[in-house]
Amino acid sequence: MSAPENIHPVSHRMLQRADKEALLGQRGCVAWMTGLSGSGKSTIAIALERLLHQAGRYVVVLDGDNVRTGINNNLGFSEDDRTENIRRIAEVAKLFVQNGAVVICTFVSPTRAIRDQARRIIGEADFIEVFVDTPLEECERRDVKGLYAKARRGEIKDFTGISAPFEPPTGPAIRLLTAGRGPDSNASELLRHLTPRIERQ
Ligand code: ADX
Repeated sequence: MSAPENIHPVSHRMLQRADKEALLGQRGCVAWMTGLSGSGKSTIAIALERLLHQAGRYVVVLDGDNVRTGINNNLGFSEDDRTENIRRIAEVAKLFVQNGAVVICTFVSPTRAIRDQARRIIGEADFIEVFVDTPLEECERRDVKGLYAKARRGEIKDFTGISAPFEPPTGPAIRLLTAGRGPDSNASELLRHLTPRIERQ
């Protein structure tokens, strides 16, 4: 979309990202977690948030169920609505990164096109794709929220993995396996990966 008429952004007069990062003593980035509903994204993100916080990092978690009860409460799960959901989230994540935060996003973000949109908005350099690779059978077996059972009964339409597609990332920066590995161990692995990216030189 081209810049709308009569809109005059003031960002060039505001303090810059480098000023915010110097204050925080870190570099901002987005860990973009993708995976099926119930794959463990939120649980790992919450554990990672604590680890980063304990390490003195300023960290923000943007999570599917939270965002969908607030800023995106007018959106459903059609392809168009998911695209708009992720577009808004990516714009919010970008605002946080430009203010020096480490952002952890936990959204199903089921298609390559949707994740590419997020990557484009946030910028390749700040976008770290994390695939929480829990197989459908395992997510369905856990069925923490009871949604797979409902989807199988036809009570939820367009349910990712059942009646809507999930396209696994082809080249994620990090792939986490959750079978036989607890969320704390996966969060530690993510922390190891992100730390050099966050540290200021
Ligand atoms: S996304 O596809 O637009 O990225 P998002 O991560 O925001 O999805 O929301 C997914 C969460 O919404 C799931 O974890 C689940 O709790 C809930 N949900 C409700 N209906 C659906 C559905 N049809 N498909 C997937 N998730 C759904």
